[in-house]
Amino acid sequence: MALTTPAPCLLVIFGASGDLTQRKLIPALFALERQKRLPANFAVLGIARTALDDLAFRAEMSEVLAQAEADIDERQRFLNRLYYLALNTTDADAYAPLRERVLALDQALNLGDNILFYLSLPPKIYATVARGLENQALHRSESGAYRRLIVEKPFGYDLGSAQTLNRELRSVFLESQIYRIDHYLGKETVQNLLAFRFANGMFEPVWNRNHIMAVEMTASESVGVEQRGGYYEGAGALRDMVQNHLLQILGLVAMEPPGSLKSEALRNETLKVFQSLRPFDPSNFAENVVRGQYTQAQLRGETLPGYREEQGVSPDSRTETYVALKAYIDNWRWAGVPFFIRTGKRLPTRVTEVVIHFHPTPHPLFTPRGGDFNHNILILRIQPDDGILLKFGMKVPGTGFDIKSVNMDFHYSDLSDSWIPTAYERLLLDAMLGDQSLYIHGDATEACWHWLTPILQTWNQEPELPLHGYPAGTWGPLAADSILTNELAWRMPCKNLTDDDNFCEL
Ligand code: BG6
Repeated sequence: MALTTPAPCLLVIFGASGDLTQRKLIPALFALERQKRLPANFAVLGIARTALDDLAFRAEMSEVLAQAEADIDERQRFLNRLYYLALNTTDADAYAPLRERVLALDQALNLGDNILFYLSLPPKIYATVARGLENQALHRSESGAYRRLIVEKPFGYDLGSAQTLNRELRSVFLESQIYRIDHYLGKETVQNLLAFRFANGMFEPVWNRNHIMAVEMTASESVGVEQRGGYYEGAGALRDMVQNHLLQILGLVAMEPPGSLKSEALRNETLKVFQSLRPFDPSNFAENVVRGQYTQAQLRGETLPGYREEQGVSPDSRTETYVALKAYIDNWRWAGVPFFIRTGKRLPTRVTEVVIHFHPTPHPLFTPRGGDFNHNILILRIQPDDGILLKFGMKVPGTGFDIKSVNMDFHYSDLSDSWIPTAYERLLLDAMLGDQSLYIHGDATEACWHWLTPILQTWNQEPELPLHGYPAGTWGPLAADSILTNELAWRMPCKNLTDDDNFCEL
């Protein structure tokens, strides 16, 4: 990562009393402070409804930092950079106090008139905030300083709402000012997909339909919906994980080599992938899409609640907590190669990985004779135990020619102790530096929704389509096996990259 320090700036966080601010943003900013990556002239202005003053806000945030192993002076130095303003953000005509406060902070702290606005709010008020900022002329700077708008997910809930949101935000801000966040793109190992593909001359020549039989992508979580039942009821696995995180990973796995690492070049290439996704055929829906919902189960003497028993969830909910899809990318490189994508909550373990299945050898010299090897598999593990594993066949010593599957592996943890920024550290720093490479372009968001919205519509219009129950702690509905082709079976990944293909328990 470049060691450039950003220019002085003010970060305005809308939704400062929310969960994201406390769990991710403040800890990430503190970590950046400790790594000396923040500019010397830097301040955070938290905005929420509750009447608090700066000191009370600092006291709340100091509890958030309590776990960090930092000394008191370090913590206090950071807390002194935090300010607070109570504001009714839902009224676009009530933003005058924000302008006053921003100008006062800018002058007092010499912040160069650069401002980032971070929207950690329900998306339905994004447009109001944009208008409120416009009303106070906070969306543009006369002095040539920057104004940037960072927007949290969900970015719309279908194609129509995403288009409306884009239109509303773009009526105030330029696309070059809008930073749509997907925290998966901030993960070091997701970015490494680019390095792996394009820094190594040996993989790119085989990265296509001639050598790759199928690609499997898994994002499994062992947790349930936790305290977010209310949000999740209106979202479901497809919107929550596939529309954003998994499709962004797919974009990096499938894209053509970009001309450079500039944000426009990178984002153009992933956009082309999204635009090439084959539209769903409603006539063979069940062969391509399977959904599920976790049910109550006993695990290690503990009763895990079913989704319908979770707080904020309707007792007859039909929201999917698991989805498996078969996708095709209709372009020259990937014609005919299936991409199997699955994600779910309350699966046996937390793993995100991409599995590349290479074609078996054209002539089966060895396989009929025994052994457990069929074809080469490359696993790009994103989390946890991040790393890369290649499976290949070796002769079992002794008489005969039995072939055994063996592993060649690399674990990130073997690298030196260099600083690996968390996703939010990396993304906040990039936004301060004006680098949009790891942020999603509005057109890409729409292209992803364009592909997925017909699935949501089909579920809506045909409620009798099955929603398969799966006991909490299992790998999801058996029906998901039916979407696989080429005699493949879903991999059962373990927490440990090399200890694979074993069933894991929560
Ligand atoms: C979020 C989803 O975007 O990503 C959550 O809303 C999910 O439901 C989370 O748990 C997963 O992120 P990570 O970084 O823990 O894999």
